[in-house]
Amino acid sequence: MQNTGIAITGSGSAIPATFLDNQGLTKLVETSDEWIITRTGIRQRRIAKKDESLAALAATASKRAIAMAGITPPELDLILLATSTPDDLFGSACQIQALLGATRAVAFDLTAACSGFVFGLVTAAQFIKTNVYKNVLLVGADILSRWVNWQDRRTCILFGDAAGAVVLQANQSDRLLGFELKSDGSQNNCLNLPFHGQSKELTPGVFISQGNFQPITMNGKEVYRFAVQKVPEVIDKALFRANLCAEQIDWLLLHQANQRILDAVAQRLNIPQQKVISNIAYYGNTSAASIPLALDEAVRQGKIKSNDIIAASGFGAGLTWGAAIFQWGR
Ligand code: COA
Repeated sequence: MQNTGIAITGSGSAIPATFLDNQGLTKLVETSDEWIITRTGIRQRRIAKKDESLAALAATASKRAIAMAGITPPELDLILLATSTPDDLFGSACQIQALLGATRAVAFDLTAACSGFVFGLVTAAQFIKTNVYKNVLLVGADILSRWVNWQDRRTCILFGDAAGAVVLQANQSDRLLGFELKSDGSQNNCLNLPFHGQSKELTPGVFISQGNFQPITMNGKEVYRFAVQKVPEVIDKALFRANLCAEQIDWLLLHQANQRILDAVAQRLNIPQQKVISNIAYYGNTSAASIPLALDEAVRQGKIKSNDIIAASGFGAGLTWGAAIFQWGR
C-alpha cells in the first residue's frame, strides 16, 4: 500500500542572539514599554546581525527538525522555504540545501508573507499526497528587521527575526486533517513592502525601471480588523473540512502578530486561554517563522504531545490568510 498520508515528525527553530527590548526602542522612536505591551503584548524581539544570513538561520532550525524526525539530510526530497526576506531575490532555499548537504532535494522559495508557513504546509503536503515525495523539509524564516523603517513607531515595534522548520513525511494515516487558504489582492495596500523604481531611458524609446524595495508600510487598524474577522472564518472552514468542531482542538496556534489578535480570535472561536499558544512577548511578529517557532517551543516544552490536534492559522500581507488542522506526530 502506498503511504500518501502526511505526518509532521520533527520541528526545529533558531533565533539570533541579539535582542532588542521595548526600552531599547524608546531610544529610536517616541514610544514606551507600557504602550507596546498594552497594544501588542510584545516585550522584546530578536535582531539578526549582518553576518547572520537568512539561509544560516534557516539551516540551524532545519538541522534540529531533521534530527527530531530521525532522518538525514540526503533523505530529503524537497526543501520549501517560506520567506519574504531572502538573502537573494532569486531565492534562498538552494543555499539551505547546500548548507544541509541535502544533495537529493529540490529546493525553492514560496512567498506568502506571514501566511507563508501555512501555505507552505499545504503545498508540501500535495507532493506527498500525490506520492511524488516522501520526506519534505518546510522552513519558515524571515529577517524583517532588514525592511522595517526604524523611524516609524507604528510598525517598528512589531517585528522580529527568526526561523522555524518542520519535517513532513509520508505516513499511513493522514495527519493533515483539513485546510483552507485565501487571498485578496485588492487589499494589498494595507500591508506591503513595494518595489519603487525610477524610470530610465536605456536607448532611445526603451525605458527600464531600477530602484529599491521600500520599508514596510501598514494600515494597522485595517490589518487588525481583517485578522480578527477573517481568521476565525478560515479556521471554522478548515475544521468543517476536518469534520471537527472547535472544542476538539487541543491547541490554537496562530501567527504571532499581536496578543490582542490572539485573544480576540480565541474568544470568537470560544477556545479557552490555556489552549492558546503564545510566545509573542519574546519574539514579536517573526512573519513566516512565527508558527513553526511557537510550535517547536511548545513541542520541546512537552506542551504539545503526540496526537494532539492543532489548529494553525497564518495571515498577513497579500493579503493572504489560511488555516490548517493537523495532528502532531506520526
Ligand atoms: N508608541 C506610542 N504611541 C503610538 C505608537 C507607539 N509605538 N504607535 C502609534 N502610536 C499612537 C498613534 O500615533 C496614535 O496617536 P494619535 O491618536 O494621537 O494619532 C495612537 O497611538 C493610536 O494609534 P493607532 O494606530 O490607532 O493604534 P492601534 O490601537 O490601532 O494600535 C497597532 C496599533 C499597530 C498595535 C494595531 O493597529 C495592530 O496591532 N494592528 C495589526 C498589525 C499587525 O498585526 N500587522 C501584521 C500582520 S501580519
